[in-house]
Amino acid sequence: MCELKLKCLVGGGAGFIGSHLAKRLKSEGHYVIVADWARNEYFEQYEFCDEFLHLDLRVLENCLKATDLCDWVFNLAADMGGMGYIESNQSIILWNNTMISFNMLEAARRNGCKRFFYSSTACIYPEHIQMNEKMTGLREDDAWLGKPQGSYGLEKLVSEEITMHYGHDFPIITRVARFHNIYGPQGTWKGGREKAPAAFCRKVFVAHVAGNNGEVQIWGDGQQTRSFCYIDDCVEGILRIMMSNYDKPLNLSSDEMVSINDICDIVADVASVSVQKKHIPGPEGVRGRNSDNSRIKEVLNWAPSILLKDGIQKTYPWIRSQIEKEQSTGHIAHYAGYLSEVRQVWLSCQCSMCEHPECN
Ligand code: NAD
Ligand code: GDD
Repeated sequence: MCELKLKCLVGGGAGFIGSHLAKRLKSEGHYVIVADWARNEYFEQYEFCDEFLHLDLRVLENCLKATDLCDWVFNLAADMGGMGYIESNQSIILWNNTMISFNMLEAARRNGCKRFFYSSTACIYPEHIQMNEKMTGLREDDAWLGKPQGSYGLEKLVSEEITMHYGHDFPIITRVARFHNIYGPQGTWKGGREKAPAAFCRKVFVAHVAGNNGEVQIWGDGQQTRSFCYIDDCVEGILRIMMSNYDKPLNLSSDEMVSINDICDIVADVASVSVQKKHIPGPEGVRGRNSDNSRIKEVLNWAPSILLKDGIQKTYPWIRSQIEKEQSTGHIAHYAGYLSEVRQVWLSCQCSMCEHPECN
């Protein structure tokens, strides 16, 4: 990626995308610091970083500690999840993520860090242009046409702007990527924050082994559309964007648009099982979403290319192995325990470190 050996901070580096990114940076010889308020569940610390800082990145002093003497900062920390989570936690998400995004950027500036990467989202695009499942693709310029999706999208749009202003006003180079729906091994697959690809890997496997006629529950009519991006393409894209000369937001996603019914079928094919789809009410988010990749191709001469069926080939066995591991250790008494619709509403700030009684 870069000939120089750098000191890199990955904020939120114990999470899904952050841990894969940190692993890649470490494998390329950089000194990698991960700051997160949670530990990574799947990798040993030495596998993905040289130093782990257990910090709440909503707090400026902690961000200053984390970014101290770093050359590059990648901020992947955020309170996030799939539709089951972001639709029911708007207030907490807006507060948590605003504090993290603003304080990480300001700390990187105060500490003289040279480059800063901000991870934005497709949720910044206006909801009213995503009402049709046959939509053609979101172009970067569509961002300012109206209301973003929920408080999660609103915070990301504001934080994109402040990140770009810092790059203009101060001697720090800033880069912004708009991730669409990223999936792969080590991603959240249960608990309520999981996104559709992981949810269907779990549900299809369990529907098969739990003996309930292969019934898989799908929120909505399943004709909603999305494009999904495999984690290896995402990490490659982050590094290319960070190294590029382009200082405005870029979509980072595959542009292979599929319906939610399609993804259920793809998972069932990979698993070699047949399933019965049962459509039930649930949080659906936008009706149709795809990425227009013209600009990333123009700027980087590259775009994500891993097909959904190939990514699911790698993701499904990993999720299956996680369920089997939990089963064998008696974590869940019966497979059916994984079938239930997990759509928790959390009223705490989701902090693993603060004093709020509801968080402990
Ligand atoms: P993730 O939840 O796996 O990782 C986020 C990490 O941030 C977690 O490890 C979490 O513990 C940490 N974190 C949250 N609040 C923190 C705090 N106050 N202090 C310290 N650490 C904190 O999510 P991910 O999928 O890896 O997403 C990474 C980034 O990409 C996020 O900014 C997210 O909004 C963005 N994004 C992801 C997707 C996707 O499909 N995964 C899509 C769009 C945008
Ligand atoms: N998560 C989930 N679980 N989604 C389901 C399920 C299920 O069991 N069944 C059907 N769906 C449908 C949802 O109703 C939604 O219409 C679609 O699958 C995709 O849902 P998610 O994967 O949860 O999220 P999203 O694509 O709407 O938004 C995600 O991607 C954004 C970036 O593109 C979220 O993770 C956002 O946080 C992220 O920024």
